[in-house]
Amino acid sequence: MAWPQTLRPLSLPVIGAPLFIISNPDLVIAQCKNGVIGAFPALNARPKEKLDDWLAAITSELAAFKAAHSEAEVAPFAVNQIIHASNDRLMHDLALCAKYKAPIVITSLAAPSAITPHVHAWGGLVFHDVISVRHAKKAIEAGVDGLVLVCAGAGGHAGTLSPFAFVEEIRKFWQGPIALSGAIATGRAVLAARALGADFAYVGTRFIATEEANADARYKQMIVESDAAGILTSAYFTGVSGNYLRQSVVDAGLDPDDLPERDKTAMSFESAKATEAVKAWRDIYGAGQGVGAIDDVLPAAEVIARMRREYLAAKQDLAKGF
Ligand SMILES: Cc1cc2nc3c(=O)[nH]c(=O)nc-3n(C[C@H](O)[C@H](O)[C@H](O)COP(=O)(O)O)c2cc1C
Repeated sequence: MAWPQTLRPLSLPVIGAPLFIISNPDLVIAQCKNGVIGAFPALNARPKEKLDDWLAAITSELAAFKAAHSEAEVAPFAVNQIIHASNDRLMHDLALCAKYKAPIVITSLAAPSAITPHVHAWGGLVFHDVISVRHAKKAIEAGVDGLVLVCAGAGGHAGTLSPFAFVEEIRKFWQGPIALSGAIATGRAVLAARALGADFAYVGTRFIATEEANADARYKQMIVESDAAGILTSAYFTGVSGNYLRQSVVDAGLDPDDLPERDKTAMSFESAKATEAVKAWRDIYGAGQGVGAIDDVLPAAEVIARMRREYLAAKQDLAKGF
């Protein structure tokens, strides 16, 4: 299947995944200028009126950069929308996406049937993230243009399927764009995603350890110091299974191997030791199993340049045969 033109000007087949709290215009602009799709959750712009400023900054900066560098591969940006009854900003945020003609909208949670006609009307594409074949079929029925397959080991709310199993099953009935998510942090892992049958790698945790990311220095350093054994998978913090840095759980005064009982639907909780509420995402740091491959905090441009070198080197290595 031919790719929509929107998805073409890339230096590397990578989408910088949307990260709650962490993704901001600086990171998205750096990703797009360096040829990878930059995405951010609309909810990161708070209060909601700020989303107008964010979209104005991203679109004007990228347009100016394109005008000044006609040869550069400037990637499109994406806005992540949470389709859930609790998101009372959805229509407001979508209207702003229409105003700025957001090239891609990435939807999470419920199938985006009510959203896709709006996005298509301004020429945008809809990608929906899924953790199962059943959800993928529902998304396709809802008219999406691409699927994000969230697999085991991904940062934040992860799936449980192996990428080998998941991509093969989806490719039996879907020939459109697929982005693959879960522990991809190097160029050779990006190439592996392509070899598996995905079109893009969907990279989250690697971009937390960048200078632009809106995360504490302690969070970034913990990613640099951790490896896969340092990732805790638990539904304790948000009611849905997710991957987090064990050390942040310890620092919040909890024992990652013996978490107390709690109300599974609450979004924050009283830690055993802390006196004030400890919040998932703010205090309990989300990260995927790919942390072991992340050894430095760099500007996003350098992360992307290195990934591209690794990608091309891995491609050459493979071309030599096995
Ligand atoms: C701290 C954190 C916050 C995240 N927030 C969101 C979010 O707001 N919306 C969303 O669709 N996915 C979110 N994700 C999931 C990512 O978009 C992506 O699927 C995941 O990071 C990919 O796995 P990786 O981190 O191993 O690269 C988040 C992930 C992390 C680590």
